[in-house]
Formats: sequence, structure tokens, C-alpha cells
Amino acid sequence: MTVPIAIIGAGIAGLSAAQALQAAGQTVHIFDKGRGSGGRMASKPSDAGALDLGAQYFTARDRHFVEQVRQWFDQKTVEAWKPQLYNYRDGVLTPSPDEQIRWVGVPRMSAITRGMLGDLDVSFGCRITEVFRGQEYWHLQDAEGCSHGPFSRVVIAVPAPQATPLLAAAPKLAGIAAGVQMEPTWAVALGFAEPLNTQMQGCFVQNSPLDWLAQNRSKPGRDKRLDTWVLHATSHWSRQHIDLPKDQVIDQLWGEFAELIGCVVPAPTFSVAHRWLYARPAGNHEWGSLADPDQGVYACGDWCLSGRVEGAWLSGLHAAKRLLSHFD
Ligand code: FAD
Ligand code: NAI
Repeated sequence: MTVPIAIIGAGIAGLSAAQALQAAGQTVHIFDKGRGSGGRMASKPSDAGALDLGAQYFTARDRHFVEQVRQWFDQKTVEAWKPQLYNYRDGVLTPSPDEQIRWVGVPRMSAITRGMLGDLDVSFGCRITEVFRGQEYWHLQDAEGCSHGPFSRVVIAVPAPQATPLLAAAPKLAGIAAGVQMEPTWAVALGFAEPLNTQMQGCFVQNSPLDWLAQNRSKPGRDKRLDTWVLHATSHWSRQHIDLPKDQVIDQLWGEFAELIGCVVPAPTFSVAHRWLYARPAGNHEWGSLADPDQGVYACGDWCLSGRVEGAWLSGLHAAKRLLSHFD
């Protein structure tokens, strides 16, 4: 019997690792606490259609990732998004066009990880609380008290603060993960019955509680019924307002948006807020992935490379390659 490899996390890092391991002939089983795949690349179903409240778009600079994006493009799970970009600084809004290609999942961001699932074995709604070693193999304990296993190796593909307790059996890796601080982001989506009178479809914001705005429905394949906008607060503002009730977060960020956008902004007919506790690593690391080959424990995710979609995908691949290189 082949003893499978456990992967904790069905975000893009975990799925990238899973695909690479499966392609090399390994059997994997993935666990995720969420109801679906994608993690911070998931899209939220709502009365205003699916909304990208986490990752907004991604760029591809590494040649391996460029090749992967080309395959997704051929499979019709991604398209280029070409927004009218603006920049807002110190009260001044200026057009800020550029040549950068920005990719989005179609018809929603989560289409990418949904497509990556293929025939992989995944248990959703399963929060892993402990990773422990039996005599020979690894076992996982979940929040319901069920145990899963045996597994020959374990790949932990969750944000650093959530990885730390799961890495208890590999204290060196746990120490590294514990040293990674991750910053929060408050995200708000607003929907307007009448389109706002602006050319803007995306905006980088400086010196404001807001960090980024995007017209969600300007992305390819999105629901067009309402004029939907996604607002992201800065890490600083999000940290300072971490426990603010959602309705107040919506009110405050809507106010900032109305001031910034330079046109009349009526009360939204739809609004939703989401708090990402571990949105992005506070600093950049170039580890690729973390490995304790003697124990057979690996960790990956955006916090091991760049805090971006591309970095997360590359980190999963890095972990898989390291694991395969250590196979007897
Ligand atoms: P995650 O996506 O966090 O996946 C981890 C998975 O592990 C999750 O599905 C989670 O449910 C699961 N999990 C966690 N703990 C457990 C457990 N104990 N047991 C089981 N499952 C568990 N990047 C860009 O490139 N461009 C952008 O525009 C951009 N914008 C962003 C905006 C926001 C608001 C946020 C939050 C992120 C943004 N990012 C962006 C970053 C990008 O989303 C991440 O870098 C990337 O999605 C991280 O992928 P990951 O697989 O490493 O982690
Ligand atoms: P990118 O190249 O579009 O943007 C990188 C940065 O360059 C931007 O943050 C912005 O400051 C600047 N920039 C780029 N184009 C600009 C333009 N036309 N006008 C003005 N400024 C411009 O994309 P990349 O490198 O893939 O970065 C991903 C994006 O995801 C970044 O904006 C980053 O802030 C965001 N992100 C947000 C997170 C969150 O929690 N809110 C987490 C991780 C990433």
C-alpha cells in the first residue's frame, strides 16, 4: 500500500504542491477548514454576484508561473483584466495607466483553485488542530476530535501564524514560522443600483485609510446587475480597527471612498465586510519553502516567498520539489 502525503490548506500554495506531487506519481490528501478551495483567493457568493474580496488580480514574472498562467488561459480559467487605473495621493486623483498585465480568474477569482482541484482527494470543512507522529507515520487530529492518517509526509500550506502550532513536531520550522508577522486587511464591497459616474476601475491609494479600490464588475465575466466596488483598507487602519463592528467598518470606508472618488456616491443598495486576519506577511522572505526532511515535514505559502499569488504558487512548487528530492 502507498502511504499518501497529507497537505493542510487548499489555497493556491497547497494546490500547487498537490499538483506537482500528483504529477510525480505521489498520492496526496488535502485538508481545508473552509467550505471550498482558494483561501485568500476565494470569492464570496452574494446577492450582488460573486465578489473577489481577497486577491484582486495577480501578475506573473517568474517564467514557471508565466507558463502556468498560459495553461490557465488556454483552459479559460483566467483572463487579463485591463482596468482604467488611477492613483490617489494627498487628495489628488490622477489617471495612472501602465503596461502591466494583470490576471484574474473567470468568472471569479476562485475559478483558478477550483480548476486546480481536478481529481485530487480533498476534505473540506476540516480544521486540523494537531500533526503528530505515530511509530512510523504521521497522523492529523481535527477540531471535531477525528484523526486522519497514516501519512508518509506532511505539507503545511497555511498562513504562518496558523502553521506555527501545526509545526510543533518540527520545532526549528515552528520557530521560523512564529517569527513571521502577518498583517490584517479589512475588505468591504459596496453595490450601487445606478452606475457611479466615474471612469475609474481600479485605484492605488496612498496616505489614506484605503489602500486599493476596484470596480468588481469591470473584471471579465462578472455579474453586471449592480455596480460593485471592492475597497481594501491599509494594514495600519485594519490593525487599528481590528475589532470594529462590520457595519461601522462599512460606514467608515464608504465615507473614505465617497470623498476620494470625486463623484456623487449614493447609499449602497448592498454592502458586505470581511476581515482578513492574516492577509499579508509584514516583511519579505526568500525561503521558497521550509523543510525538515528527517521528519518529513514541509511548510509553504506566500509568507515563504513574496506575499502574492505568484509567490504562493511558487512556494508550493518549491515544497513539492524539495519533498520529492528527499524521497528514498
Ligand atoms: P491561503 O490562501 O491563505 O490558503 C491557506 C488555506 O489553508 C486556506 O484555504 C485556509 O482555509 C486553510 N487553513 C488554514 N488553517 C487551517 C487548518 N488548521 N486546517 C485546515 N485548513 C486550514 N496577491 C496578489 O498577488 N495580488 C493581489 O491583488 C492580492 N490582493 C490581496 C488582497 C487581500 C485582501 C488579501 C487577503 C490577499 C491578497 N493577495 C494578493 C495575497 C494572496 O491572496 C495570497 O498571497 C495567496 O492567496 C496566498 O495563498 P496561500 O495558499 O499561501 O494561503
Ligand atoms: P502590481 O505590479 O500591479 O502592483 C505593485 C505595486 O506597484 C502596487 O501596490 C502599487 O503601489 C504600485 N503600482 C503598480 N502599478 C501602478 C500604477 N499603474 N499606478 C500607481 N501605482 C502602481 O502588482 P503585484 O506586484 O503583483 O502586487 C500585487 C498587489 O496585491 C499589490 O498592490 C499589493 O499591495 C496587493 N496585495 C494586497 C494584500 C492585502 O492584504 N491587501 C496582500 C497581498 C498583496
